[in-house]
Amino acid sequence: MTNVEKIKQTEAYVHNQLSGEASGHDWWHIYRVTKLAKTIASVEGADVFICEMAALLHDIADEKLNESEEAGLKKVESWLQRIEVEEASMKHIMEIIASMSFKGGGQPPMKTVEGQVVQDADRLDALGAIGIARTFAFGGAKGNIMYDPSIKPRRDMSKEEYQKRDNTAINHFYEKLLKLKGLMNTPYGKQLAEDRHLYMEQFLNQFYKEWEGER
Ligand code: ADP
Ligand code: NI
Repeated sequence: MTNVEKIKQTEAYVHNQLSGEASGHDWWHIYRVTKLAKTIASVEGADVFICEMAALLHDIADEKLNESEEAGLKKVESWLQRIEVEEASMKHIMEIIASMSFKGGGQPPMKTVEGQVVQDADRLDALGAIGIARTFAFGGAKGNIMYDPSIKPRRDMSKEEYQKRDNTAINHFYEKLLKLKGLMNTPYGKQLAEDRHLYMEQFLNQFYKEWEGER
């Protein structure tokens, strides 16, 4: 199988695994992250095949979709073996996926530029217009209200507090989204994050104005 065919097969596999997923890990999230990862990879001179494969598979191992993180990682590994990705690439892709998700902070830094690229692409999908839309969609699905001026954002959350997710949608900007710009790995990822960050700040300013009945 050529690399192009491996990508095609993996797309179909992931699409099938995630269809009907409503926790924010839907196929279109994967679609956007993969596109962005390819773009950042070319700009940064990273291995595009590794980035594309890791981006496609990055949510398959998520603990929300599996019995455990280990079971999720096993699933990814079996898939890579099935389509005969060579050993070194397989190890690399697995390592990226294992170190990926945010979980309230404190995850190990990415060891390779390919890992940095995929992590940047995933974070960027939580920012900008898409990030705003995902935040309100997620909050709505959880039954959270969008805003209450008397509920202040939490400053230092434990992993447990973060995972309870009983905040307002607006507070999620302060508890997570506005911090992501400072966590970007690659120069091009940083640049894209700056743009999307600015867009969210403008959104919040307008939101507060309208909240108070201003123009
Ligand atoms: P995490 O990596 O923080 O576990 P997910 O990947 O599960 O987050 O989040 C899916 C989407 O939902 C992201 O766009 C994220 O910003 C958003 N989201 C996560 N937690 C909340 C929350 N408590 N309120 C609103 N949006 C949230
Ligand atoms: Ni993701």
